[in-house]
Amino acid sequence: MSRLKVALLFGGRSGEHEVSRNSAFAVATALSSSFDVLPIGIAKDGQWYAPIPLSGIKEFIPEDYSDKKVTILPYPTSKGVIYSLPKLEPIANAQVFFPVMHGTFGEDGTMQGLFELAEVPYVGAGVLASSVGMDKVMMKKAFAEAKLPQVPFLSFLRIQIEKELDVVIAQIEDTLGYPCFVKPVNMGSSVGISKANDKKGLEKAMHIACRYDRKIIIEKGVSAREIEVSVLGNDTPRVSIPGEIIPCNDFYDYTAKYIDDRSELHIPAKIEKELQQKIQELAIVAYKSVDCSGLARIDFFLTKDTGEILINEINTIPGFTNISMYPKLWEFSGIPFNELVKHLIDLALERAEQKKLNILSYDI
Ligand SMILES: Nc1ncnc2c1ncn2[C@@H]1O[C@H](COP(=O)(O)OP(=O)(O)O)[C@@H](O)[C@H]1O
Ligand SMILES: [Mg+2]
Repeated sequence: MSRLKVALLFGGRSGEHEVSRNSAFAVATALSSSFDVLPIGIAKDGQWYAPIPLSGIKEFIPEDYSDKKVTILPYPTSKGVIYSLPKLEPIANAQVFFPVMHGTFGEDGTMQGLFELAEVPYVGAGVLASSVGMDKVMMKKAFAEAKLPQVPFLSFLRIQIEKELDVVIAQIEDTLGYPCFVKPVNMGSSVGISKANDKKGLEKAMHIACRYDRKIIIEKGVSAREIEVSVLGNDTPRVSIPGEIIPCNDFYDYTAKYIDDRSELHIPAKIEKELQQKIQELAIVAYKSVDCSGLARIDFFLTKDTGEILINEINTIPGFTNISMYPKLWEFSGIPFNELVKHLIDLALERAEQKKLNILSYDI
């Protein structure tokens, strides 16, 4: 039997372009033992290039592939076909698309929308779960609806902050106080996030966050342990053993995540069995609350003073290097990396099959 061809997309127009390349290299390497992998590199301007050799993923330089521009097209007879540009000649046909891309234009539902229009099976969450998971305010509204415990928050538009800064600050000070966390609503990898300890810090933090998005969110700061759990599946998801992150900085900022290697991952998290089970239950509720499929890493705070569990966020395309929390938690829970990526392909195909059961027009 011939091997399935998997188009693996990486890079992209996001602050997490570099992170994506590291994840993609690990995923492509693991997939290549069972599948025919076609790595597609997406430059920071959005242009797609393929095929990229495995060795070219980590240090992807678009200029080296200037004669390898490609695209897919959303029309019915071209399902899975990858076309060269500008001539639009078919160069390959993929049965599954695997976006290993974090953040905007990869994890936020836009890429997933293209896959839907092109009618190709793809790994991970659909359009809705991807976009809700990416928007920290919509995500928190979905979590609130599912009665998940979380920190109090407020959200403002950039325009409000520009026009009525004093009113905004007064509202934050009255309802949340200090410390608080200021974040762009649509971002990841802690980009644009600051902790504010006083009014001056808050103003600065809002200024920074507003550079990344037209909406910002401000959350009450908690002093907490950070517990993460991996979820895998479509309609009947499974959940891993929880792990713990111990950031090397004041909080888990970009440097603590990717630059300084002193942050620690503890697997399993050293917490009581009951707490572990509670977190696993909440993770499944969170997964379903945004109608997620494929995979997600769900992050919690465990407050240091009261031992409360609060949900922080869902990541629909979590970090996927060999040392990332998502695959590490599965490895500990009995699913090695190579098997994990195979499961994800199966789940993508399963979801595409499910979709075929739906009648699209009114059938009398
Ligand atoms: N409300 C909060 N209280 C305490 N720490 C927080 C809070 N929000 C975020 N943090 C810290 O900032 C980090 C990044 O925030 P997060 O919302 O997870 O953003 P991202 O989506 O970029 O990962 C967290 O891992 C945590 O260390
Ligand atoms: Mg996070």
